[in-house]
Amino acid sequence: MNSPAKKKNTLFLNVAFVAVGAVILVFFLRAPEVTTPRLPHDEIHDPFRPMKKREADKQCESCHYPQGEAPMPAVHPITTERCLFCHRRDD
Ligand code: HEC
Ligand code: HEC
Repeated sequence: MNSPAKKKNTLFLNVAFVAVGAVILVFFLRAPEVTTPRLPHDEIHDPFRPMKKREADKQCESCHYPQGEAPMPAVHPITTERCLFCHRRDD
């Protein structure tokens, strides 16, 4: 049954739905650009491009862990060995 009270309720829900959608859209549009550095193009890193990701990931730490020659920044997201998950090489 479509009583007037129920109609009003449905209208309210529709308006609320659109409003929430708009807020989420604005939130994502305002999010900062992705700034994660990509895998560099040089003689050190190019050999990792044809490899399987999992295979390549294991070899980053020798240079990029704290004791290595090019340690990653002290403030770094998480230090798993899934380096290429974030540091893209596809470009
Ligand atoms: C032989 C040592 C070595 C290995 C192995 C190595 N790197 Fe590097 N990496 C470096 C050095 C040195 C630099 C800094 C100079 C440069 O940009 O090449 C660097 C720089 C980087 C940067 C910074 C790029 C930027 O824009 O500042 C990223 C990201 C990176 N490496 C990711 C990786 C990943 C992911 C792996 C594993 C697939 C890896 N590296 C393996 C030595 C290494
Ligand atoms: C969850 C995503 C993520 C993972 C996983 C990750 N990184 Fe990073 N890494 C980042 C981001 C984001 C930055 C930029 C941090 C900043 O500039 O504050 C960064 C920065 C770096 C830098 C410094 C680049 C520069 O320009 O100074 C190196 C080197 C690096 N990461 C290496 C690695 C290695 C090696 C691994 C794997 C052991 C790894 N990262 C795993 C997200 C990630």
